[in-house]
Amino acid sequence: MLPINKVIINNETGFNPIWIMRQAGRYLPEFREIRSKNTDFIKLCLNEDLSAEITLQPLKRFNLDAAIIFSDILMLPYGLGQEVKFEKNFGPKLGNLNLSEIAKIDEIDFVEKIHRVYKAIKKVSSDPSLKNKNTIGFVGAPWTLLVYMINQQSPKKNLKENFFKDEFLINRVLLVIEKFLKLHIKNQIDNGANIIQIFDSWAGLLNEKDLPNYIYTPTLNLVDYVKSLNVPVICFPREIKNYKEFCEIVKPDAVNIDYNVNPKEIVQNIKIPVQGGLDPKILLTDKETLKKETIKYLEIFKDHPYIFNLGHGVLPETKPEMVEWLVNTVKDFK
Ligand code: CP3
Repeated sequence: MLPINKVIINNETGFNPIWIMRQAGRYLPEFREIRSKNTDFIKLCLNEDLSAEITLQPLKRFNLDAAIIFSDILMLPYGLGQEVKFEKNFGPKLGNLNLSEIAKIDEIDFVEKIHRVYKAIKKVSSDPSLKNKNTIGFVGAPWTLLVYMINQQSPKKNLKENFFKDEFLINRVLLVIEKFLKLHIKNQIDNGANIIQIFDSWAGLLNEKDLPNYIYTPTLNLVDYVKSLNVPVICFPREIKNYKEFCEIVKPDAVNIDYNVNPKEIVQNIKIPVQGGLDPKILLTDKETLKKETIKYLEIFKDHPYIFNLGHGVLPETKPEMVEWLVNTVKDFK
């Protein structure tokens, strides 16, 4: 059985597999080299040879236990026909959302637009270097995708005041998102993804009263769907106020925590396997601090099924040698 599966299926403790969110990305010079020649990010995600190569780059350098496919959560709105662009020093910019257009998209058109993501997954998962490692497929959670599709850019700290103004539109879009996320998940699994992670990066923006409608119900539907395909599913409801309640309602196979929660409270309150937590900014300090903070998480989760990861994606200014130091610290921990 693969190391991460031992943790999230068998609930085994004591050997801490590790992968890192955004492990394939801008902190690696070999990624920046490819990126500088490929200025259109979406096109790069749809180039299965380059996407597979980028996915494997961090595994060539570090002793990681999983590959996460180089793609983006915004491939979903792109597949639905909404314009998606990435601007330097700005982040994603989406075009106007046209519900009647989106409601017309059929599954064949969607798959036709993004099928090269699945080809990349097939390439990666059949690569001999991944024989004893997981291939992680992923999607954005319905809520986070809704935020991008309606807000048309990152919400940074707050939603626009009139975000919830058109409830009819919001609920229709949520249903469309959910339907196509299922298809996107199924295609990733059919092409070799053997774990799915659901990123809910903007879960922390909602008030408690809105959680059932925008997070619990749509995420639970997806989690149940992934489970029905016999693949484990990890949820990352970033900055949600109550991880315990989330886990009890949504019941993922594992939960990724952010760096603002106290890991000691998590280990006491949460029964399911846990992933992540370390603040990515710690990788910008020095080796001694990094080792100390890493061991802090490992000690806290010593008797709990735990997958080492960060509390959000690795920052672009991180030195690769600090990532190497982190991975080795985790691997050497007894
Ligand atoms: O983890 C990995 O290595 C796999 C690839 C991956 C990317 N995006 C590649 C990427 C994954 C899993 C994502 C998820 C993603 N994308 C999320 C959820 C996780 C999170 O960070 O909260 C979100 C919200 C997005 C949307 C997105 N894509 C944003 C906001 C940005 C721009 C700013 C940023 O944080 O990088 C992207 C671009 C993006 N996605 C890059 C990469 C490597 C940078 C592209 C570049 O400019 O070179």
